[in-house]
Amino acid sequence: MTVTYKLEPGGALTGRIRVPGDKSISHRSIMLGSIAEGITRVSGFLEGEDALATMNVFRAFGVRIDGPERGDVMVHGVGMRGLKAPHKMLDCGNSGTSMRLLCGLLAGQNFDCALTGDDSLRQRPMQRIAEPLGQMRAEIVTAEGGRPPLKITGVANMRGIEYRLPIASAQVKSALLLAGLYARGKTCVTEPAPTRDHTERMLAAFGYPVERNGGTVCVTGGGKLTATSIDVPADISSAAFFMVGASIAPGSDVTLEHVGVNPTRTGAIDILRLMGANIELINQRQAGGEPVADIRVRHAELRGIEIPVELVPLAIDEFPVLFVAAANARGVTVLRGAEELRVKESDRIQVMADGLRALGIGAEPAADGMRVTGARYGGGVVDSHGDHRVAMAFAIAALRAGAPITINDCSNVATSFPGFVELADSAGLKIKCD
Ligand code: S3P
Repeated sequence: MTVTYKLEPGGALTGRIRVPGDKSISHRSIMLGSIAEGITRVSGFLEGEDALATMNVFRAFGVRIDGPERGDVMVHGVGMRGLKAPHKMLDCGNSGTSMRLLCGLLAGQNFDCALTGDDSLRQRPMQRIAEPLGQMRAEIVTAEGGRPPLKITGVANMRGIEYRLPIASAQVKSALLLAGLYARGKTCVTEPAPTRDHTERMLAAFGYPVERNGGTVCVTGGGKLTATSIDVPADISSAAFFMVGASIAPGSDVTLEHVGVNPTRTGAIDILRLMGANIELINQRQAGGEPVADIRVRHAELRGIEIPVELVPLAIDEFPVLFVAAANARGVTVLRGAEELRVKESDRIQVMADGLRALGIGAEPAADGMRVTGARYGGGVVDSHGDHRVAMAFAIAALRAGAPITINDCSNVATSFPGFVELADSAGLKIKCD
C-alpha cells in the first residue's frame, strides 16, 4: 500500500497532545515480560508495526500475549527457559531493534531460528551484533555483507565477555546484555558515549541485578526475572516532531503529555534549547523506573548552531526533524560525528539532504553529518524512501513552507506513530493522506 502525504503550507500547532508510546520501551516490555515468571501488565504500549512485530515473534515462541487493547497488554511470562522453537521464519518487518535485541536473547536458547525483515531492514548491518555475540560463542550466520536474513543456532555454552563497543549503540549493548542473561559468568559492556539505558532500567524493574559503573554495565548469567507492571511513557522521538513544529511555527503553543524524558533520550531538547527554543518541562515525575514530564513548547526564533558531538547519541533518532529546525533557523547549523545516520531505516543524511534541496534549502551532506543553511523555502515533492521519521520531518517542514509539499512513500509512519496524520491535523498541521 502506498501512502502519500499532501501538505498545505502554514499553520500553527496548539493544544495538549499525547503521542503514542515509546518504541524502545514497548519492545523491551514484551521481550523481558516473556522471559519473566508471572504476568506482566503493560500500559501505554505502542500499537505501531515495529512493536507489534516483536509481539508476533514472541507469540511464535508460544508466549501468550493478550492485547493490545488501547495500549494495555498482558504478557504471560514463560520464564528464562520457557520459549519454544518457532515453526516459521521470524519476520521483524522494518524493526532493527526487534532483530538486534532478538539475536542476543535467542543466541542461548535450546532451539534454532531464522530472522528476516523488509527491504530496508535487509540492508542494515548485523555484523556489529554477530561479531561480539560470536565472542560469547553464539552461532549467528548472516547473509552476504553481514546483512539479514540471519540464522541463529541456539548454543548451551555461552560465556560472558568484556566488550568495548566500537560505536555508541543501545541496540548492540542491549543484545549483549540479553545474551549475558544466558551466559556463564559476567558480561560487561563499555560504551564510548552514553546511549539509551532502557534495557538496564527494565532489567532492574524485573528484579534482575545490573551493575553499573561509569560507562560500563554488567550482568551475570543464570538469574531470573519476576513479572512487573510497566507504564510506557509517550515516545520523545515522536514528541520531537511537535517540539520542532511548535518552535518554528509562529503562534504555536503545545503541551506534550506524559513524555519519557530519560536523560539518555533528551538530546533533542538540549539541541533545540541551544538553538533558542522555548521548551519547558512541567510536572516531572517517575513512571515505572523512567522519568516522565509534560513538555510545553512555544514558538521561538531559532538560530543555527554547531551541534555538540556528545549530544549526537542522545538525539540519534531526531535528526531528520532537527534538520528541519535548522532549515528554519537564522544562520548555519552543522552536525558532525553522526555517521550512524547513514545506516538507519534509510541513509538519513543523503535522504534528508535530497529532500531539503528539493524544497530549496541549502543542505550539504558530509560522511558524518550535514551543514544546513536556514532560509525561506518553497514547496515541492519529497521522497521519504520508506523512512517513517523522514516522512514526518518533511510534514513538519510544511508549517513554514511557501507552497504545498507532497511526500511520497509514507506508509512506514505506522511503524512508530500510528495516527500521526489525525493527531497532527487536530493540532493544526494542514495534512491530508492519499
Ligand atoms: C534503539 C537504539 C538506537 C535507535 C533505535 C532504537 C533501541 O539504535 O536508533 O531507533 O531501542 O535500543 P542504535 O543502537 O543502532 O543506535
